[in-house]
Amino acid sequence: MKKAVRYYSKQGNTKMIAEAIAEGAGVNAISVTDEPRLNEYTEVLYLGGAPYANIMAPELKVYAESLDAAKVGKVVLFTTSNWSRRTVFALKKLLKGKGIAVADDYFYAHMLHIKGRIDAARAFGRKNR
Ligand SMILES: Cc1cc2nc3c(=O)[nH]c(=O)nc-3n(C[C@H](O)[C@H](O)[C@H](O)COP(=O)(O)O)c2cc1C
Repeated sequence: MKKAVRYYSKQGNTKMIAEAIAEGAGVNAISVTDEPRLNEYTEVLYLGGAPYANIMAPELKVYAESLDAAKVGKVVLFTTSNWSRRTVFALKKLLKGKGIAVADDYFYAHMLHIKGRIDAARAFGRKNR
């Protein structure tokens, strides 16, 4: 099964979670700034980011908008923040509007407890989907 992990991270928190999920899934985590398009058909795409002043980074939004429903089986979301989970909710709405399936469950890590959530993120990436 082809899996991929893509993320946007300004300060490194989401990157650490993305890398742990990727390790669990057996793939590399790649920033949307390094690879701005998903080129190959992907059955499970893990996609994550964080809110900055209540909104996700424009780079992540543009990436989500660029996804092609014919090239993605399902998106599994993850986010880090101080309190808000709105990145997940906003991405879910955007992706569903494009006809892309989004898993009901998602992964959350508080910005002050990233290191304590690494094992759980790895297990999240290992989970069969
Ligand atoms: C400029 C700025 C604005 C932020 N605004 C919010 C916010 O509105 N809601 C929230 O829950 N966290 C907010 N945070 C916290 C970040 O979402 C949190 O630190 C997140 O883990 C950052 O991810 P990153 O390290 O991958 O960039 C903000 C952080 C910064 C630096």
